[in-house]
Amino acid sequence: MRFLRLGAVLGLVVSITAASPICPIDGPAFPKPLRPSQNEAIKAAVATLKDVFANITEKAHDYSLSVQVFSSNEPEPLFSLSHTAPKLASQNSTGVKTVDENTVFRLGSLTKIYTIYSFLINAGDKLWNEPVTKYVPELQALANRSDPVSYVAWDEITLGGLATQLTGIPREYALLGELTQSKETRDKVLQYGFPPLTPDQKPPCGAYPTCNRAQFFNGIGSFYPSLAPFQTPAYSNVAFQLLGYALETITGKTFQSLMQETVIEPLGLNNTFLKAPEDSRGIIPGDHYETGWAFDIGESVATGNMYASARDVSTLGRAILSHKLLSPIATRRWLKPFAFSSDPLAMVGMPWGARRIKLEDTYRYTTAFNKAGNIGDYSALLAILPDFDIGFTVLLAGELPGNAGFGLADTLGEYILPAIEEAARTEAGAKYSGHYVYPNQKINSSMTITTDELPGLSISQWFSNGTDFAWISTVLQNQYYPVKPRIRLYPSGLEGPAENGGKRVAFKAMFEDADAPRNNNKMFSTECGSWVSIESVIYGSAAVDELIFNLDSSGKVVSVMSPSLRVTLNKE
Ligand SMILES: *[C@@H]1O[C@H](CO)[C@@H](O)[C@H](O)[C@H]1NC(C)=O
Ligand SMILES: *[C@@H]1O[C@H](CO)[C@@H](O)[C@H](O)[C@H]1NC(C)=O
Ligand SMILES: *[C@@H]1O[C@H](CO)[C@@H](O)[C@H](O)[C@H]1NC(C)=O
Ligand SMILES: *[C@@H]1O[C@H](CO)[C@@H](O)[C@H](O)[C@H]1NC(C)=O
Ligand SMILES: *[C@@H]1O[C@H](CO)[C@@H](O)[C@H](O)[C@H]1NC(C)=O
Ligand SMILES: *[C@@H]1O[C@H](CO)[C@@H](O)[C@H](O)[C@H]1NC(C)=O
Repeated sequence: MRFLRLGAVLGLVVSITAASPICPIDGPAFPKPLRPSQNEAIKAAVATLKDVFANITEKAHDYSLSVQVFSSNEPEPLFSLSHTAPKLASQNSTGVKTVDENTVFRLGSLTKIYTIYSFLINAGDKLWNEPVTKYVPELQALANRSDPVSYVAWDEITLGGLATQLTGIPREYALLGELTQSKETRDKVLQYGFPPLTPDQKPPCGAYPTCNRAQFFNGIGSFYPSLAPFQTPAYSNVAFQLLGYALETITGKTFQSLMQETVIEPLGLNNTFLKAPEDSRGIIPGDHYETGWAFDIGESVATGNMYASARDVSTLGRAILSHKLLSPIATRRWLKPFAFSSDPLAMVGMPWGARRIKLEDTYRYTTAFNKAGNIGDYSALLAILPDFDIGFTVLLAGELPGNAGFGLADTLGEYILPAIEEAARTEAGAKYSGHYVYPNQKINSSMTITTDELPGLSISQWFSNGTDFAWISTVLQNQYYPVKPRIRLYPSGLEGPAENGGKRVAFKAMFEDADAPRNNNKMFSTECGSWVSIESVIYGSAAVDELIFNLDSSGKVVSVMSPSLRVTLNKE
């Protein structure tokens, strides 16, 4: 897409070099698939995954796993597999003997998603720019110290900053990474070259016993800040402990009761816990303390103490995607990145990792919102992809290979993502493809909608009152000719009821010149700026790129309306 602006005159002829790549609007390329399990591409992907996982589990002697791929539009998972480590039989485990989708695992930092969910349900997102000092009284005493290198500027630390990991406050206090607390390192610190500590320099608490609330604030009060607030994201467990305290002040209820009453019970999460449940519900690959199963992180509960089964984690993912406890608009605000990271494909959300995944050799990317957790012998991962209303749950326990959780997500994604895009395309094609004509044959207006290998519905032919409107609209949009029109429709996210008990579904058209010259790998220029060109051609206050489909009460598409052409074309 090119940005010839003022003064660009129709008739400018540009030289043609190479065909331009498609530049979809970011987000879903098709309406979200409602019945992916019925799709042939998904069935084939699931069959292949069964073989691939047979090989993976064959080698998994020392660890157990429970994995699901789910759609929020179907009650049963698209793919579900649990494996019990052969080694479990010899570990005298007090937990389950056989792992299935209801077996409870520890979630570690995946807890942070439950914490934010509970925060949004109970306090909304209007407080994100409020300073944490307003809601956590102990921090008021630590605010307004004059030296920003030595002391955290607590007045500048907002609730939203904590949720997005942008505060630069310390990562931990006296828990992970603290050499004096770990039994592997605490007796070797002098050997390593560290000086002896005076008793008041040494944390009085940490792993055993965990710090109480007063010890925690005493500890973080003496910590140097990590980074300037809002400089760049840096992972912090302290941030989520503080958010938990703030939520208790805001609501006047305990974190535990909020989680129980506003998340666990409403969603029927019978295998989800904030504290370790009975051993008999869980996978415990060894002794129940040594594995970390029974280790309660105390005051840090909001940052990493939760337990759940794969089925329950998938239920949580479905609930987020299907707006069960949060409105669609609150959910869309939550599922956005807030900061860059060092990897240009990996952004930081709240506190999701937002991963850009290339689906085709064009500018067609989708975004997965991921949160992983590791604690003791456990590893957990939830990934949700709002463009498709699907997600992955990966829970692991035992002696894990490196990068086990994300490694399995890579495997799931390799087969599922191309298939789910195909499922979305197939469903959209079956519903919207066809020839649409003006009911009165005296006026020559019509449109043909098809699907092909590219993202979005294609308008392959469009006449308005006898003119080739596909060509004219592409010329008006691009402000030059000749053009080779390539018109695609993408969901605008706007849907509403229609008078007849049916539905109206709006799409945005992109009018691209398939022969536009390439302009990639430049410093400032882009050849894919679709978001800037939306609604740039308007006739009588109606954008030419707006098309609204009318569906009857059975969900069948009956017509398409163009607000700018003031015409409704009936589907043949
Ligand atoms: C499983 O492993 C066997 C033997 O290594 C290999 O031949 C086969 O291709 C693998 N199957 C899949 C689906 O990866
Ligand atoms: C399991 O219990 C048996 C019998 O008490 C004992 O001999 C064995 O060492 C135990 N195994 C482990 C891994 O603790
Ligand atoms: C810190 O200073 C600012 C600006 O002077 C003031 O608004 C704020 O109330 C102070 N905070 C505390 C906790 O004293
Ligand atoms: C959870 O347990 C309750 C009470 O035993 C039961 O009524 C409900 O159906 C269960 N929910 C799910 C999702 O299993
Ligand atoms: C169709 O085009 C004719 C000829 O230009 C014009 O007179 C007429 O008003 C147009 N009708 C509509 C509905 O656009
Ligand atoms: C409608 O208009 C198009 C474009 O001018 C033309 O190619 C086509 O033959 C016309 N169809 C009819 C039925 O007049």
